[in-house]
Amino acid sequence: MADNSKSYETNYVEEAGKPQEKGAKAFLHDFQSRYAKVDPASYLRRPDETSRHYWGRRLGSLKPVELLLAEYANTELRQYLTWWQLVFIGIGAIIGTGIFVLSGQAAAQNAGPAVTVSFIVAGFAAAFASLSYSELASMIPVSGSAYTYAYATMGEFIAWILGWDLILEYMVGSATVGVGWSGYFKKFFGLFNINFADSWTEPTVLWEENPARIYYEEGHAFNVPGFVVIMIATIILCIGIRQSAWVNSIIVVFKLFVVLLFIFAMCGFVDRQNYDPYVPPNTSGDWHFFGAPGIFAAATTVFFSYIGFDAVTTAAMESKNPKRDLPIGIIGSLVTTTVLYIAFCTVMTGAANYTELNTPTPVITAIEAVEMRTGKDWLWLKIIVILGALAGLSSVILINTLGQTRVFYAMAKDGLLPSPFTKVHPKFKTPYVATITVGTITAILSAVLPVDLLGNMTSVGTLLAFFIVHCGVIVLRFTRPDVERWFKIPGGKFLFVVFPIIGMVICVLLIAVAEVTTIWRLFVWMGIGWIVYFSYGIRHSKLHRDPIGRFAEVHANADTSKEEVYPVQDYDYQDSRG
Ligand code: ALA
Repeated sequence: MADNSKSYETNYVEEAGKPQEKGAKAFLHDFQSRYAKVDPASYLRRPDETSRHYWGRRLGSLKPVELLLAEYANTELRQYLTWWQLVFIGIGAIIGTGIFVLSGQAAAQNAGPAVTVSFIVAGFAAAFASLSYSELASMIPVSGSAYTYAYATMGEFIAWILGWDLILEYMVGSATVGVGWSGYFKKFFGLFNINFADSWTEPTVLWEENPARIYYEEGHAFNVPGFVVIMIATIILCIGIRQSAWVNSIIVVFKLFVVLLFIFAMCGFVDRQNYDPYVPPNTSGDWHFFGAPGIFAAATTVFFSYIGFDAVTTAAMESKNPKRDLPIGIIGSLVTTTVLYIAFCTVMTGAANYTELNTPTPVITAIEAVEMRTGKDWLWLKIIVILGALAGLSSVILINTLGQTRVFYAMAKDGLLPSPFTKVHPKFKTPYVATITVGTITAILSAVLPVDLLGNMTSVGTLLAFFIVHCGVIVLRFTRPDVERWFKIPGGKFLFVVFPIIGMVICVLLIAVAEVTTIWRLFVWMGIGWIVYFSYGIRHSKLHRDPIGRFAEVHANADTSKEEVYPVQDYDYQDSRG
């Protein structure tokens, strides 16, 4: 240790002794070289450094991009996924509760037929985020997603906060969808007059917003269907990425077929009167309900529909050519779903009056409205649509759970979570300990907690992640302009900032209009995260416990066949070791 510190000190003094350039250019150069300089010894405590300074420096320490690239080159995970499977992973994670459940509720409560406009507004928020994700994914293709981007740009502590926050997006998101899955499951059997009791198909506790309280509903035991479907997804994920990708692809094809079937079957039965008024007037005085502002309130609800494209980035380590294919996966899946959402909502609000759509299965309500008007029987369509919705929700669960396990895997690799999460199954090549742990906790959450409580937490958690990713893209453009990017946000050297800045503003606005109780819960969740970090993560962080060993390990294992694509720089760590 002493040797290392000494050699760092020597380097430091040598650097300081060099002739200094002057002016803004020199400042930028110094600034960039601080980020580009990958000296493992610089993570160690300097002999003259106070504890306060050292621990403060640790919180802000960055994980070098080169180390991340080398990790991709050395991963034990199976690199199997191609661009179209990544697009399917995106679609698998995106189309779910948002379109099959929340669309109708947002139309009935906030926007009327103009919920289609809300989908366009929310689509813009997602589009800005997709650009930032695409740029970062094309330069740092590592499975930790936003957590990894934050580690490379804003330091370990912010990265931890983000990793902790992603639990809300992926794990809590998956549990939310598990609750929605039960609703469609009951509806399916209800079509054949088989009715399940609420006690085994609803979560144990319920949530009321006004006044805020969580309470036990007499007779409610456990949401069994939600629990079971999440455990099945967990088993598939343990068996392998190849099997998971295939199951997801089959589900996605079916889900797309059902969405298109609904659009084409119902578009001929749209009643123009249902579009009148297109934007129902606000009469209550509360801005959330109808009128132009109601469109934005609905946009915050249906934003949930777009969550999931970023899950593509969590499969980075398992893709064949991530730098090119991740941006294709992210943007391809988002564009496809946005177009489908707009068509779907236009048809749904034209088939039924928006006032009727406040049900757990609004798509079926729309078909039933057409049945009433025309006297035709559409039982076959209802059966296929419900099966499509069930399949759709299943793939959201599958991919979100996949995303969560890969984030835990990345955090454990860095030492911020216990090492068993890094265990890869020798045969299946999956992080099975992380998968079983994440799957079981998610299944229990879904069995016990109510959908609205979970859904709101997912949305604010995701918005916070998007915000930090937007910051990350700006930071890396200025600090690491040298690193190759297959995809760049348009706008050139400086104007590109317009996109992430607008994205950040949208995130803040959407968080600001969330319910106060949701924001409080976010603070509480983050507070728990701080406790875990300061009692465990900060002490076990590999970058600090043994930085030289960590760099050496990655360097020694570097797969030279991939060096051309992912060059592992010579860190010169031996010199630093003295
Ligand atoms: N976008 C996903 C859904 O709507 C989370 O279910």
